[in-house]
Amino acid sequence: MNDTFLRVCRGKKTDFTPIWIMRQAGRYLPQYQEVRSKVDFLTLCKTPELAAKVTMQPVDILGVDAAILFSDILIPLEAMGMGLRFEEEKGPIFDSPIRDRLGVERLIDIDPQEHVPFVLDTIKILHKELKVPLIGFSGAPFTLATYMIEGRSSKTFLNTKKMMYTDPHLFRALMERLTVNTISYLKGQINAGADAVQLFDSWAGVLSPEDYKTFAFPYVLKIISDLKPLNVPIIYFVNNCGGLLEIAKDCKSDVIGIDWRVDISDAIDRLGADKVIQGNLEPIILFSDRTQIKRAAADIIQKGKKAKGHIFNLGHGILPTTPVDNLKILIDIVHGME
Ligand code: CP3
Repeated sequence: MNDTFLRVCRGKKTDFTPIWIMRQAGRYLPQYQEVRSKVDFLTLCKTPELAAKVTMQPVDILGVDAAILFSDILIPLEAMGMGLRFEEEKGPIFDSPIRDRLGVERLIDIDPQEHVPFVLDTIKILHKELKVPLIGFSGAPFTLATYMIEGRSSKTFLNTKKMMYTDPHLFRALMERLTVNTISYLKGQINAGADAVQLFDSWAGVLSPEDYKTFAFPYVLKIISDLKPLNVPIIYFVNNCGGLLEIAKDCKSDVIGIDWRVDISDAIDRLGADKVIQGNLEPIILFSDRTQIKRAAADIIQKGKKAKGHIFNLGHGILPTTPVDNLKILIDIVHGME
């Protein structure tokens, strides 16, 4: 087992900087497209043999140091009773977004064994097959709430923020239900064999620091403190984290993941040198050439040495048209082989 990733999560010194890539199983890989051409995305997520197969592809093809479960942050929301579909070009759609108390009250509390058995079965296959650690994941409550309230991806988050400001009790009631369900969902993943978990707060960065502190962060704290006794590393990824680091630093996760809009050296100074950091290459650098990729990666690796530990990643998910060869170059550079 290559456990370098887990050792860095735990703050141990290692021979090289481990790397994995957010959205590493996906459309930029021809081998993924091959599988995906035969089944739709949700069926792929719900068929353990196929989900396990595409989870392993980037490990075999690229040599990343961790695998991330192939699934989606919206899968548990579907299990909570939200009808979910994916539309080509538009992405995920909930046809009945939550806008009132009834919407919150009719949500189901999930038991992972009963409601998402395919997720646990995928993890069990991977636990046997993988030679690198497996990362389980969930969306963080605020990020999940945006999809539930907007019904789809959004630019302004108008309905979400409107509910937050005009009916904070209702908004909090939804956040509490999401928190309870995220805890049981992640506990289910850990018990099935996930070696680490990542909470994706992809949209936290659209909040003012004050609103983040009031409406989003307390629920993240609750999840992390409930999962701590399970003794599995927890990564908290905050996209667009620049304005939020002084708040997020108190989350007690083992690792904080950052996006590329903040310089990693500044982020380490602001988080404190006792934190393990994950990130943060601008994903579109992978569309340039070897020289530029090397320059940008070396800068991040050098600056990352100041932290208690550094896990290399992109600052957000890899884009579907990224050249695979450039990603291989990046991985070799990070592993010190270029
Ligand atoms: O990282 C991995 O390789 C594991 C799998 C994974 C997926 N989604 C697969 C996926 C993970 C960890 C996610 C998380 C996810 N899903 C997030 C948080 C991370 C982030 O990027 O901020 C969010 C916001 C979602 C919701 C979601 N899923 C959207 C908005 C979309 C459509 C956007 C798009 O690129 O089409 C998805 C679809 C999705 N999730 C795909 C994959 C591989 C593409 C589906 C396909 O094959 O057509």
